[in-house]
Amino acid sequence: MQIISTIQQLRDRLKAEPSVAFVPTMGNLHQGHLALVRQAREHGRCVVVSIFVNPLQFGPNEDFAKYPCTFEQDCAKLEGLAEVVFAPTVEALYPEPQQVFVEPPPVASELCGAFRPGHFRGVATVVLKLFNIVRPQVAVFGKKDYQQMQVIRTMVRQLNLPLEIVAGETLRAEDGLALSSRNGYLSAAERAEAVRLYRNLVQISESIVAGGRDVAALERAAVADLENHGWRVDYVSVRNAATLLPAAPGVAGLVVLAAAWLGKTRLIDNVEVCFSADKGL
Ligand code: PAJ
Repeated sequence: MQIISTIQQLRDRLKAEPSVAFVPTMGNLHQGHLALVRQAREHGRCVVVSIFVNPLQFGPNEDFAKYPCTFEQDCAKLEGLAEVVFAPTVEALYPEPQQVFVEPPPVASELCGAFRPGHFRGVATVVLKLFNIVRPQVAVFGKKDYQQMQVIRTMVRQLNLPLEIVAGETLRAEDGLALSSRNGYLSAAERAEAVRLYRNLVQISESIVAGGRDVAALERAAVADLENHGWRVDYVSVRNAATLLPAAPGVAGLVVLAAAWLGKTRLIDNVEVCFSADKGL
């Protein structure tokens, strides 16, 4: 496995590679990330993982400065799973102030975008830069960040980028909590409480599958349960899984998404609604 930090070196290394599969990350790797890297192997002879904490996607009061950096351990975990780790410095990726941005689709202003203004613009911009540097045939994104994955899919489609986006399932701890770098911020008591978010999403999904049609009431009940247990809820929302627009009657593919704060930690999660029959809301 090669560790490369400059754009030129990476381009030279990949010039003769006919099939590159790419997994962009911000490091602090856990089993969820590694599952995406293993999945990438099915799609490319050369697997490239980037590790870059992108300042452009963090708001002024967010956790950019304290985002966990565990570079050595990350590289040890990737040994044998990836051919190349690309870990540029901020100066290498942004040698001059970035003035050209990807304007993401309107859906990027909803859900997480409503609470993190500019976040998806920063994500889409760095991902496009990384795509242009790595030039992969396939890139793998986790469903854990469902809205991010949809924003990237839309960017790839509408800007005719010559690559395929593959979705990876969300890896969870035994109790159901989605693995996340931000789980490391939780105290022991918060960690025990954290699974409530996932449980509420599953509850909504099961209620819909069982015939529940008052989506707003289901959302409100989840918010109330979380708030009663000390959470501060940004949103709980049932959406069309393909467009992320509010769930409309007759739509079969739904996803329940949520973001909520436990103490100083913001957690996000989502659960796809699995209808066994082919009828939607
Ligand atoms: P990061 O949060 O490091 O996530 C990297 C990838 O891992 C994303 O595609 C994310 O959805 C996926 N992932 C995170 N937790 C997961 C889990 N429990 N199971 C499966 N996959 C999981 O997302 C980013 O970085 C950044 O926004 C990035 C795309 C790298 C742009 O800076």
